[in-house]
Amino acid sequence: MTHPSLSIIRHEHRALSAMLRSITLLLAEHRRRNTLPDFDALQAMLFYIDEFPEKLHHPKESRLLFPKLRGRDAHTDAVLDRLERDHARGEQAIRELEHALLGFRMMSATDQCEARRRDFEASMKQYVDFYLDHMHVEETEILPLAETMLDAGEWAELDAAFQMNRDPLAGHEADEAYRPLFRKIVGALQSSGSVGSALEAFAGAAQPTFTPRQ
Ligand SMILES: [Fe+2]
Ligand SMILES: [Fe+2]
Repeated sequence: MTHPSLSIIRHEHRALSAMLRSITLLLAEHRRRNTLPDFDALQAMLFYIDEFPEKLHHPKESRLLFPKLRGRDAHTDAVLDRLERDHARGEQAIRELEHALLGFRMMSATDQCEARRRDFEASMKQYVDFYLDHMHVEETEILPLAETMLDAGEWAELDAAFQMNRDPLAGHEADEAYRPLFRKIVGALQSSGSVGSALEAFAGAAQPTFTPRQ
């Protein structure tokens, strides 16, 4: 049986993976063409990562799921410690990325442009590798363990809590205030032919439920 809370985690992982891969593809495409990226769209994407995965997804894991798995064996506790360190590091990492993007944008008309672009690309790659690995560990070690360890009462408690706040890019209605942000992101992905495969990752479970304005 698939528990709703685990489905939510997996859907949110897919949405975040697709976003991270889209940013990587966008940057590679602009480097290949020797053009500047759409800075507004990139800032919107990083803002999305900060607002949803960092502020909603990771706290749900840290506060609700991980404590239920602690104290069972030393290996699991060590894995949970590493994942918690990742969560703590993530907020700082996204701030540094946003600053690197701002540096690239502000200096793009100067002779620092290439150095700033390289700096942002390198920071972005490090962040993408870091989070793809983090989510892989959760999906291969922690979620399967939860499936075998937790009882019906614990699942009921988790499922109720996980339904409370959900990521709009993982197939849930965006709050009114966030709709322009998601229109900008979806519009940027749609207008870039190079990210077609990443955009497909948003199809179905990860498709935003509002219709982007044309
Ligand atoms: Fe996590
Ligand atoms: Fe996660």
